[in-house]
Amino acid sequence: MAKDYSVAVLDGEGATDYARYMRTDTLLSLQRRPEDMVHRDELLFQIVHQSTELWLKLANAEAAAAAGQMTAGALDTASRLLGRSALAVELTTEQLEMLESLTPWTFQAIRTVLGHGSGFESPGWTGLQKLGKELNRAFAALIDRDEVDLAEVYRGDPDVPVYRLAEALINWDERVALWRARHYKIATRIIGHDVVGTKGAPVDSLVRLVVHKFFPDLWQVRTELTRTGPMGTVS
Ligand code: HEM
Repeated sequence: MAKDYSVAVLDGEGATDYARYMRTDTLLSLQRRPEDMVHRDELLFQIVHQSTELWLKLANAEAAAAAGQMTAGALDTASRLLGRSALAVELTTEQLEMLESLTPWTFQAIRTVLGHGSGFESPGWTGLQKLGKELNRAFAALIDRDEVDLAEVYRGDPDVPVYRLAEALINWDERVALWRARHYKIATRIIGHDVVGTKGAPVDSLVRLVVHKFFPDLWQVRTELTRTGPMGTVS
């Protein structure tokens, strides 16, 4: 007898196997209903935030796995997972563009329903901060254990695993900073300068976060190369 592909066979909620596996009924009920909205652009605003949290859930899981692989000495695996984590962060940066279509005045209406809710409380971003520190610790332990001279690594073959790993970390650090730069521009484009956010933080204080470095040693080594390079003595 021919198989009936139209029949749902999985357990779970929803009319189809797609709905049951992807949990679409629950997922699509997580946005405010039109009748509860103060402005229809709340849908856009919530979806940008919610999808960011989903991508960051992946970014965090991959970064945590990368830290574990680093500790286990699997450098190439760690680099690959870091690449995936960094790409997830990059995708959240791209979707910030959607907020450019939100007018400053519309946001003033949306702001009235946000309470003291702020990006400072984002689980995805809090997780990234924690994992940045964890990755830094794992990399420092590796460098110590193998007595690696970072400047020597950077003067040498870019295809050795430790060089590739160092670059995967720099890439990750840079993707986070690029999100922060984009977010700062979007935030000021919408609410202006010299004002505070929903958590009371001055919007311009976001600038200092843009220059934050998760892996200072990997930035410092570049400075060292410049200072010790052929042009090093030229100021
Ligand atoms: C209308 C668009 C947005 C505006 C006007 C805005 C504004 C702000 C402001 C003023 C702050 C400073 C803290 C405060 O008092 O709240 C902040 C922080 C933050 N926001 Fe947004 N934001 C917007 C969109 C987003 C989106 C889409 C996300 C994604 C989850 C996000 C995540 C964050 C994070 C993580 C911080 C902490 C600062 C950091 O770690 O760089 N924001 N935002």
